[in-house]
Amino acid sequence: MVCKTSGVLLAVLYVSGVVGQNGWDVTYTPERICALKGSTVDIYCTYSYPHDNTVQKTSWFTYWPLFSEPEDLSLKPRYRGRVQYLGNKHHDCSLSIADLRESDSATYRFKFLTNTMKREYTGQPGVMLTVTDLQVGVDPDTVTEGWRVTLTCRTTCTLTGRPAFIWYRNNQRLYFSRQQYQITASSGDAGNYSCAVRGYENLPSTALTLNVQYPPKRTSVSVSPSGEIEEGSSVTLTCSSDANPPVQSYTWFEKTGAVNSERGTGESYTITNIRSEDSGQYYCEAQNQHGALNSTAVTIDVQYPPKRTSVSVSPSGGIEEGSSVTLNCSSDANPPVQSYTWFKKNESGVWQTGSGQNLSFFNFTVWKSGLYYCKAENKHGAQNATAQTIKQGVGAMVVLCAAGWTTACLALVLIAAIVCVYKRKKRGTPGETARGPHTQMSLKSACSDPQDDTYTGLDLVAVSPDYDTLNVRAQETASDSNSALQRAAQASDSD
Ligand SMILES: *[C@@H]1O[C@H](CO)[C@@H](O)[C@H](O)[C@H]1NC(C)=O
Ligand SMILES: *[C@@H]1O[C@H](CO)[C@@H](O)[C@H](O)[C@H]1NC(C)=O
Ligand SMILES: *[C@@H]1O[C@H](CO)[C@@H](O)[C@H](O)[C@H]1NC(C)=O
Ligand SMILES: *[C@@H]1O[C@H](CO)[C@@H](O)[C@H](O)[C@H]1NC(C)=O
Ligand SMILES: *[C@@H]1O[C@H](CO)[C@@H](O)[C@H](O)[C@H]1NC(C)=O
Ligand SMILES: *[C@@H]1O[C@H](CO)[C@@H](O)[C@H](O)[C@H]1NC(C)=O
Ligand SMILES: *[C@@H]1O[C@H](CO)[C@@H](O)[C@H](O)[C@H]1NC(C)=O
Repeated sequence: MVCKTSGVLLAVLYVSGVVGQNGWDVTYTPERICALKGSTVDIYCTYSYPHDNTVQKTSWFTYWPLFSEPEDLSLKPRYRGRVQYLGNKHHDCSLSIADLRESDSATYRFKFLTNTMKREYTGQPGVMLTVTDLQVGVDPDTVTEGWRVTLTCRTTCTLTGRPAFIWYRNNQRLYFSRQQYQITASSGDAGNYSCAVRGYENLPSTALTLNVQYPPKRTSVSVSPSGEIEEGSSVTLTCSSDANPPVQSYTWFEKTGAVNSERGTGESYTITNIRSEDSGQYYCEAQNQHGALNSTAVTIDVQYPPKRTSVSVSPSGGIEEGSSVTLNCSSDANPPVQSYTWFKKNESGVWQTGSGQNLSFFNFTVWKSGLYYCKAENKHGAQNATAQTIKQGVGAMVVLCAAGWTTACLALVLIAAIVCVYKRKKRGTPGETARGPHTQMSLKSACSDPQDDTYTGLDLVAVSPDYDTLNVRAQETASDSNSALQRAAQASDSD
């Protein structure tokens, strides 16, 4: 075929050689064109002939078969509607081809016939048209953050006019305008890249995906349900992290003081029936093949109603008539106890005697003796403390015992015991039988150990709130004379 074509070419050259010297000529500018697929190319062309000739026929063709005439482009089905002769029958032979296809790549030539010619005149060498598409080259196409990547807007020929390129990432235009683009990959560079030629923005390349891998970033923990966590409920912690490839393993830790202990694995960590001991700081570690990252810790604060509510008394000794005494209600609660209520229980019933963590008596009198307990309350519930018996001690006896006067002390204990037995006999009601041991116990504790805190005559006995007792009958009788006054004092103290 090359052979055939060159035979024809020789014949043509012979013709053109003969007449060319006499003003026969076709000029193509430029002779090589690299054009974009889909675009329209204008092939500029001029021709000349002796002035006494008249042009009868013009034609553009690409292929001249042996033994026949080349076919005019406009007659070929695949050029139908796409070629337009811009020239005329004088000296302009320009041609336009629209919607270029890669198969349009060929050498295009112009020929014409005048009234004086036997054969058509063909201008050499024609225009070599190459149609190229655009392709984004990413090398390499999968990288780890920090690697160098080269993006190239590839063409199969150097575009005529060396136009600028336009780059897009995820359809957003980039600042870069060269055909080749080198970057140090960061996670933000990942995306679908395409390119276009300036002036032909409507003919972009297909997109190519750059995959930038990186270790976990922005690892964080979310807690569900959000808000307050009450003891007994279930809580799910979920770890999330941005990583490429996605996180391969999650590890859960709990921070207690300086100790970080592993608690589990998996994207989420559920604590069912949560206890107050589960309160703490939790965080997760997200890991993929490129590294790991710990989240910041979230605080899990398990709330619960008051627990271990108890009453303590200060001073922690026996109570002298006229002395000050403070009852302290302590309780473990989360959130901390919001309200304290004090109750006094005596034979006639339960009396609310105060509020606040402390209950103070500034001038203790026998009238205030009794069972005291407190109620601690927060928004999750309330708890009553075990009641404490508050009563007046036996001063003289206590002082002697404290000084180590064992003999005197023993004597006093003996007297006290006798008094006690006598009292019991005298008032043998069933209720009194129950009270007896408490009185004895308090006396015993006052004497048994001089080093003990009880030296001042501690006289507290813990009993249950439903234990109905009042240990101050004897003193009550003794102080009958100023009972009215005591009642008044008591009323003001306990309110
Ligand atoms: C990139 O292209 C792929 C496939 O066409 C598509 O699934 C993905 O969502 C694209 N990414 C972006 C960021 O547009
Ligand atoms: C995450 O915390 C755990 C426990 O403190 C530690 O062993 C691990 O090295 C930490 N991981 C990273 C990536 O810092
Ligand atoms: C009350 O008891 C609690 C717990 O025992 C203690 O922390 C607090 O200091 C006590 N308050 C008084 C006034 O004794
Ligand atoms: C019980 O205590 C209340 C309140 O302090 C008091 O008014 C009442 O008289 C007491 N009853 C007896 C029987 O002591
Ligand atoms: C209770 O009394 C103690 C002193 O005994 C005092 O330090 C404390 O602040 C009081 N607490 C309250 C809640 O009043
Ligand atoms: C606490 O004691 C008060 C007074 O006796 C009573 O009304 C209340 O029901 C008790 N609360 C609890 C939680 O036991
Ligand atoms: C304590 O109360 C008694 C009797 O009610 C009274 O005689 C005495 O003056 C009071 N003491 C003080 C310091 O208020």
